[in-house]
Amino acid sequence: MAGDSENGHHASGRSPQAQAQAPRVCLIGAGSSGIAAAKALHERGIPFDCYEKSDRVGGNWVFENQNGMSAAYRDLFINTSRPRMEYSDFPMPESYPDFPHHTQIAAYFEQYVDHFGLRDLITFQTGVQHAARSRDGVWTVELDSGETRRYEALIVANGHHWDPRWPEPAFPGADTFTGEQLHAHSYLENSIFAGKRVVVLGMGNSAMDIAVESSYVAEHTYLAARQGVWIIPKYVFGKPVDQLRNDPRVPFKVRQRMLQQLIRSYAGPPERYGLPKPNHRFGEAHPTVSGRILDRIQHGTITPKPNIASFEGAQVRFADGSTAEADVVVYCTGYKITFPFFDEDFISAPENHIELFRRVFHPDIPNVFFIGLLQPLGAIMPLAEAQGEWVGDYLLGDYALPAGAVLRADIAADQAAMRERYVASKRHTIQVDFDDYLRALAKERREGALRARANGYLPPALCRPSVATTAS
Ligand SMILES: Cc1cc2nc3c(=O)[nH]c(=O)nc-3n(C[C@H](O)[C@H](O)[C@H](O)COP(=O)(O)OP(=O)(O)OC[C@H]3O[C@@H](n4cnc5c(N)ncnc54)[C@H](O)[C@@H]3O)c2cc1C
Ligand SMILES: NC(=O)c1ccc[n+]([C@@H]2O[C@H](COP(=O)([O-])OP(=O)(O)OC[C@H]3O[C@@H](n4cnc5c(N)ncnc54)[C@H](OP(=O)(O)O)[C@@H]3O)[C@@H](O)[C@H]2O)c1
Repeated sequence: MAGDSENGHHASGRSPQAQAQAPRVCLIGAGSSGIAAAKALHERGIPFDCYEKSDRVGGNWVFENQNGMSAAYRDLFINTSRPRMEYSDFPMPESYPDFPHHTQIAAYFEQYVDHFGLRDLITFQTGVQHAARSRDGVWTVELDSGETRRYEALIVANGHHWDPRWPEPAFPGADTFTGEQLHAHSYLENSIFAGKRVVVLGMGNSAMDIAVESSYVAEHTYLAARQGVWIIPKYVFGKPVDQLRNDPRVPFKVRQRMLQQLIRSYAGPPERYGLPKPNHRFGEAHPTVSGRILDRIQHGTITPKPNIASFEGAQVRFADGSTAEADVVVYCTGYKITFPFFDEDFISAPENHIELFRRVFHPDIPNVFFIGLLQPLGAIMPLAEAQGEWVGDYLLGDYALPAGAVLRADIAADQAAMRERYVASKRHTIQVDFDDYLRALAKERREGALRARANGYLPPALCRPSVATTAS
């Protein structure tokens, strides 16, 4: 950040006066995104309360989390490699493998919190029930303990992989199906598939993992999909695939061609395995990473199928007219982005759509911020870390946003670029490229630091009344 000793700013750009005037912040959630934001606030001396529903940090990575929100299953391993997932200033232990188990990931987040002295700053087993922005711009936050508190800023880090999206509408006859229907979110271990005929629906990472797990114990597993994807192996050239050089200065189209060629030379086209032909080029859908699915298909334990068309009793009919008897159907159909603590007509993400400046700043509300609300080609944690620092700088006046019109044009351009690049799907509404996002954010922070300096490091007018107000 730009420093200016004449203004009483340290090399970091922060002044004791700025810290003394810092707004009081409410931070919702202590998953991997929330703890990164907590660290950024703590380091900057910004006072905050972090509320966490669970009795521990780590959110999704806590198997059988008492908050009921974790999608982790007993045999879940990360699919973004360790160096991609770790925070920039807190490496995962050297003893960890390239793709650690969820227990190791959860332990890492616990260590992070202790290392940076954050544990005592988190109020555990306390959920935010309701958050409303009053006419004076201050947030009124109701906790599930029954208490109400007021804050000048609100940071939302409540995660976006916990509210299951079931097929909407349900498939015809789904209510007549005699077997069990579950969503990937509630899947825990493959013992439920032992000796059964299983249909797994979807082509994302949940579908890959669950179909593979099922294939070891089920009588037979069918993998149904409404459209094809490129399946990326975990390793290429002996390296985790996300460790291949990916220079954001090289045009995306060039990188795309190279990677698609690489994937094709590794496994050939997905159609070779009976999977649907992707209707898009590589990089135009959220990556499906699996080192095992193609083997399991080639071993005859998984049969690819098109989308489910309907159910009748124990029978599942697929879109090509073929049928299979089934005992279990697992909907690996993704998640909804929801903020249960906001009034729906105030802030929501219908069809997973929410427009934010670089996925963090709300264009109409100057004192609400979203951390980790993005779907990277790569891991979320280092991005959440950078976002937390960015918001921290903003709250102290060390970063100034661009003018409203510029900000809105940026959001519109970003939305247009996403629509153009990605296959139309509710899962492609908050996509970013890991390296590109970090690079663009660093540039934006540099530019915003210069604007802040030109403004004399004026703190942001957080509580100014705005059109977006929910309560009187
Ligand atoms: C099966 C699965 C595997 C995944 N694998 C990877 C991977 O390999 N790599 C990767 O980068 N990403 C992966 N992801 C994405 C996942 O979203 C991130 O890894 C990570 O969990 C995001 O962290 P988060 O803090 O944003 O959300 P979460 O982990 O969901 O944490 C949110 C936290 O907020 C708390 N909270 C929510 N609402 C409230 C409230 N109202 N009041 C108080 N507290 C609240 C919750 O209790 C929770 O602790 C995976 C997702 C799934 C479903
Ligand atoms: N090992 C791991 O680390 C791991 C494991 C599991 C999940 N994850 C992560 O968790 C997140 C969620 O992944 P996910 O696989 O659960 O969800 P997802 O990526 O959103 O994928 C959902 C899949 O279901 C399909 N689908 C949705 N609605 C459908 C419908 N009505 N009918 C038929 N198909 C439908 C989608 O198809 P369309 O593309 O056509 O919409 C897509 O193939 C991702 O970030 C993923 O990387 C990671």
